[in-house]
Amino acid sequence: MARPKVSIVGAGAVGATAAHWLAERGVADVHLVDIIEGLPQGKALDLQEAAPLRGYDARVTGANNYDGVAGSAVVVVTAGIPRKPGMTRLDLLKVNTGIVGGVVAEVSKRARDAILVMVTNPLDMMTYLAMRKSGFPKTRVTGMAGVLDSARFRTFIALELNVSVKDVDAMVLGGHGDSMVPLPRYSTVSGVPITELLPQERIEALVKRTREGGAEIVNLLKQGSAFYAPGLSIVEMVQGFLLEERRLLPCCCWLEGEYGLNGVFAGVPAILSRGGVEKVVELKLTDSERAMLTKSAEEVRTGQADVDKILAG
Ligand code: APR
Repeated sequence: MARPKVSIVGAGAVGATAAHWLAERGVADVHLVDIIEGLPQGKALDLQEAAPLRGYDARVTGANNYDGVAGSAVVVVTAGIPRKPGMTRLDLLKVNTGIVGGVVAEVSKRARDAILVMVTNPLDMMTYLAMRKSGFPKTRVTGMAGVLDSARFRTFIALELNVSVKDVDAMVLGGHGDSMVPLPRYSTVSGVPITELLPQERIEALVKRTREGGAEIVNLLKQGSAFYAPGLSIVEMVQGFLLEERRLLPCCCWLEGEYGLNGVFAGVPAILSRGGVEKVVELKLTDSERAMLTKSAEEVRTGQADVDKILAG
């Protein structure tokens, strides 16, 4: 059977890292697209030349146009610019709406059956934009945030308890931002909720660090933002789709009544299959958890309205 093709638009730090892990795992052939001349071709060739050393047969290609996107099973979008000093949230939204809107228009013309995995920030709004621009069904438009946010939470739990990350699971709901909702009751070490293992104030500190996880890395790096964990988080989702692993992962999904939310994207646990987001799984939430999720989703709804305004000109 031919390997499926995954296209990644945006061959920067996150896109190239995702390409690296995808090729290395042999999950798919990878096609990189970027506007910078030579960049996707150069990174693709470099990854191809690493293949004999690691023993993978995946083909890795790159281009500055969209022809090679045709036939992709999954298209990952990381294209965009980061927030620069002096830029407001709305400034960034405007610029990335222009970039990502253009990318999705090109992609959706050529890969009509693809699953779109959005990564560019602001994530939830870019996922909404992708659904509007592509006209794809909600099952095939999703965003990567929850896998990353829960990986960060898992890391901090494992470090705090000095236990193997292998035994730690965590669930994070909501938008990808300050209002995300890490759920300690549903975060466990070998099945034991962390609420049984840690005092409340330590849990609160880990939740805060998770919420601020992206900023912590930006502050350290000074230039650019995280890419190792984001790159691998993309691969977890892509692999879940392509290998029909039926993973239950927190993803940015379009809600139509789930969690009492309608017509908004938010991070929720979902079962991933070859067709895309097969099912959003509804967890029982306490009143305060539900209130936090609703608040987070309402912030996304405001962002979606901003995207609508930008598109309307
Ligand atoms: N078409 C294709 N590629 C584009 C376009 C475009 N119109 N505009 C920008 N790009 C490319 C840039 O040339 C760059 O190579 O997108 C790439 C972005 O890569 P980086 O600047 O390295 O950013 P990265 O760290 O990879 O983050 C990408 O992911 O996690 C999010 O917040 C992050 O929104 C950001 C995105």
